[in-house]
Amino acid sequence: MRNLDDLLASGVRGNRVLVRADLNVPLDGTVILDDGRIRAVLPTVDALRAGGARVVVCSHLGRPKGGPDPKYSLAPVAARLAELLDAPVAFATDTVGESARSIVDFMPDGNVAVLENLRFNAGETSKHDGERTEFARALAALADSYVDDAFGAVHRKHASVYDLPRLLPHYAGSLVLRELDVLSRLTDEPERPYAVVLGGAKVSDKLAVITALLPRLDTLLIGGGMCFTFLAAQGGQVGDSLLEEDQLDNCRGLLSSGKIVLPVDIVVAPAIAADVTTQVVPATAIPAGQRGLDIGPATVDAFTEALRPARTVFWNGPMGVFELAPFAAGTRGLAEAITEVAGFTVVGGGDSAAAVRQLGFDERAFGHISTGGGASLEYLEGKTLPGLAALED
Ligand code: 3PG
Repeated sequence: MRNLDDLLASGVRGNRVLVRADLNVPLDGTVILDDGRIRAVLPTVDALRAGGARVVVCSHLGRPKGGPDPKYSLAPVAARLAELLDAPVAFATDTVGESARSIVDFMPDGNVAVLENLRFNAGETSKHDGERTEFARALAALADSYVDDAFGAVHRKHASVYDLPRLLPHYAGSLVLRELDVLSRLTDEPERPYAVVLGGAKVSDKLAVITALLPRLDTLLIGGGMCFTFLAAQGGQVGDSLLEEDQLDNCRGLLSSGKIVLPVDIVVAPAIAADVTTQVVPATAIPAGQRGLDIGPATVDAFTEALRPARTVFWNGPMGVFELAPFAAGTRGLAEAITEVAGFTVVGGGDSAAAVRQLGFDERAFGHISTGGGASLEYLEGKTLPGLAALED
């Protein structure tokens, strides 16, 4: 796989370099709630600027349906990138149209431009090879070479990730290399005991990764919305909590491994709101009319104890609805426990990465905070990831 250093060594002054980034950040209106993914791409952008390239950054944001939607504009992201770079960043109000072409044609060497959301174009995510290729060709016309620094999107067979590298000289960016280096430490004989903590809403989303990881890990701690299907599979009463009936048999099968640790108490409430009355109940006796929305304090203690001997920890998925104060203690407590582990710790992507930063943790307290949510899980599953395969060719 050729990388950014190879490109820089060949000389980039005056060249248009298209950097595919994953700038899919959480937003409240136009306010960026966590800029971690923007900061993560700075080393690649800075190195290209320093080499005199004309750096054209592109990304998706959210999952817009049916064309441009101001709610998913990358404009706030471009503004934040300018602040972080302490340099002007031009923003194209389209992706491959007049605005993008004129900005790229006239941008000075060493400058940076951001294109509007790739997913405003149906070709980006199309299932039809021809439609994706057509959009990839339009993107390729804006550049002389391509750098993939979008680790969080390498599991997507999308035009800018999978088809575009086939049309331009292509290189892995420094973020992609760093992520692969770290995640390969989890797949290539991790130091034992190896503990994995999984949260998030659905068992069905995590079934494949659990099945792939179970033989390789020593302990699997399960919280978040998905724990209720496991608790129900053990015969527990889960009240109105999230439940995937069609996954009960799968959960029973996974529980028979003897490696899975489930919550012992749960914070419940009648609704998801910041001002509801909450109570802590035994995990297997959640009353009707109540929903489990966070792991309880006894579970935090039990998970902390289970993690203490670990030498490698991977964590993906919040333990509860951490965005609301009454349901944040479980995720905070788990994050604290992970910071105390005397070993290599990785926070895997998306929501969990945003959670640790939003809850005020110092990033340096963790071994690595991945920018990839789904991407890091699929990597650990051992799947061939389209974006990485395209870079190998
Ligand atoms: C992520 O947030 O995991 C990546 O940006 C990929 O986003 P997607 O799941 O919408 O493709």
